[in-house]
Amino acid sequence: MTETASLPIGLFDSGVGGLTVLKALQERLPCENYRFLGDTARLPYGTKGRDTIIRYTLNAAHRLVSVGAVKMLVIACNTATSCALPSLRKDFPDIPVLGVVEPGARAAVRATRTGYIAVLATEATIKGGAYQEAIFRLRPDARVVGRACPLFVPLAEEGLVEGEIAEAVERLYVSGLFEGSDRPDTVVLGCTHYPLLRKSLARVIGRGVSLVDSAEVTAESVEEYLTGKNLKNPSGVPGETHFMATDNAQRFARTGGIFLGRELSEGDVELVDIPSSISACSAR
Ligand code: DGL
Repeated sequence: MTETASLPIGLFDSGVGGLTVLKALQERLPCENYRFLGDTARLPYGTKGRDTIIRYTLNAAHRLVSVGAVKMLVIACNTATSCALPSLRKDFPDIPVLGVVEPGARAAVRATRTGYIAVLATEATIKGGAYQEAIFRLRPDARVVGRACPLFVPLAEEGLVEGEIAEAVERLYVSGLFEGSDRPDTVVLGCTHYPLLRKSLARVIGRGVSLVDSAEVTAESVEEYLTGKNLKNPSGVPGETHFMATDNAQRFARTGGIFLGRELSEGDVELVDIPSSISACSAR
């Protein structure tokens, strides 16, 4: 057992959505310490262009690591994973970097019987095609259809996850997809915010369709990795979490609580800045 085992796991998201991944991790690996950075100043990433998303993600990841070493980096954001995973791995050759797309694709391939899978995600995630590629790698004969659902992010953050408004927006985005007999049997909730809409979305989509998300499977992958490398924290006591946000700690705490499933207070969240000059070389 090395000293590395007691280091925290670093998590990054464009905002609060990645707290669904943190929640799954804390349930599965309660003795780990976590450091979470939400880039609330630049949220949403999902409507931005690829180069901007890569730049923001690299800057944020370097800021996260500049606080202190981490034993692993989990990119708890589908958009950042889709666009920036290869760049992150290049920038952090000594830190294992895990994204949420591969685990989400794995969950979908496990769930589908027919191989016809719908991916609901942000505009950037759908455009980048990372889910489609990850699914085809695991099941080459799959049929994948993608739909961008940008309004799901503000709906989830405002707690509008049930009722007329949520269902009207959901109908708009899935219109035509689940009519007739040639329809997907599995839907990937390919954005950290979408699991909050799961109940109403399931009603709109109808029976016989599995809805999967990557939070739980990502936590499973992290555990597998740490176990394989003998890097699980051996302390035997509940770990601590350091929350950081780049803007509006109060809102982070309020909306974050919805995603984390427990109350957070403003005082729990450290406000940090990400200098645009922070770069691959300066932070290593
Ligand atoms: N966290 C993002 C994702 O999972 C959603 C929010 C955003 O657009 O930044 O894709």
